[in-house]
Amino acid sequence: MEETAASAQNAPLESLEEWEEFVRSRYPETDGKPAFQATNPHKRREEFRNYEADARPSVRAFYRLNHRHQTLEFVRAKRREYLSLDRRRMGVWEAMEYLNTLVDDSDPDTDLSQLEHLLQTAEQIRRDGHPRWFILAGLIHDLGKILCLWGEPQWAVVGDTFPVGCAYSPTIVFADYFAENPDYRNPEYQTRLGIYTENCGLQNVYLSWGHDEYLYHVVRDYLPEPALYMIRYHSFYPWHREGDYDYLTDSKDREMLAWVQAFNPYDLYTKSHERPDVAALRPYYEELIAEYFPPVLRW
Ligand SMILES: [Fe+2]
Ligand SMILES: [Fe+2]
Repeated sequence: MEETAASAQNAPLESLEEWEEFVRSRYPETDGKPAFQATNPHKRREEFRNYEADARPSVRAFYRLNHRHQTLEFVRAKRREYLSLDRRRMGVWEAMEYLNTLVDDSDPDTDLSQLEHLLQTAEQIRRDGHPRWFILAGLIHDLGKILCLWGEPQWAVVGDTFPVGCAYSPTIVFADYFAENPDYRNPEYQTRLGIYTENCGLQNVYLSWGHDEYLYHVVRDYLPEPALYMIRYHSFYPWHREGDYDYLTDSKDREMLAWVQAFNPYDLYTKSHERPDVAALRPYYEELIAEYFPPVLRW
C-alpha cells in the first residue's frame, strides 16, 4: 500500500501486531526467569539496547512518536476526551466485530484478526481451567483498540505503557527517546515521584494513554477486581515484567500484580495460525458476556 507522509507520521507500524511481536521478542516464551524480578536497571538497560538495535525501523519510529508525544497534558486531554463514554452504545460482541473492521496493511493470510486474537487468548485461559471472569478478561482485553477506528494514531493506542508526570524508568524500552518529550525538560516531572506521592496507588497515577486505560473505564462497573487489573495494566511492562515503579503502588496493586502477571502469557503466547471457529464459539461467549455485562455498554 502506498504510504502518505501523514500516515507514516501517525502509523509507522504495518499493523498493531508489529508492536506485540516486538514485545514477544523481548520476553520470549522460553524465558525461564520469573516474571517479576528485582533487576539491576543498568544491566536491563543494556539488554534493552540490544533489542532496540535489532528492532525494525517501523518499530523504532513507532516508539519514537510514542515517547515524544505522551506527555502528562496529552494523557489528561485524552482522558477528558474519551472517559465521558458518550461516543457510542454497543454490546461487547458488537464491539468485537467493530474492532475487527480495523484493517491494516499486514498480510491477511498469515496474521490473525483482532477477533481471532481475542478468541485464542480466551480459549487458552478456558482450556487451563481458570474462572469465567478470567476467560472473559481474555476475550475483551484489547477492545480498547477501537480507539484506532476513531482516528487515534497508533502511538496513542498501543505500546508499553509507563507513568507520566514523574521520571522515566531506564527499564522502559527506547527510553532515550524521552529526551524528545516536552515533559523531559520540566524538572517537576523528572524527579522519582514527580507529581505523585510515595505509594499513592496506581489508580492515582497517569499512565501513558492507550487501549488499556480506555477499556478499563468502559467495563469497570461489571468485572471483578483482578479482571480489571488485567485489562488496565496488561501493557504496563515496566511494572509487571520489570518490577519497576513499586514506589507508586499501594498494597492493593501489589496484591493484584500476580493476576496481571498470570494474564500476560495468555496475551503474548497464544498465537497460533490455527484460526478459531468464530461461529462455533460465539454461543458460549455470548452467554459468558451476558453473565457479566448488560446488553449495551457506553463507549
Ligand atoms: Fe493489549
Ligand atoms: Fe492482546
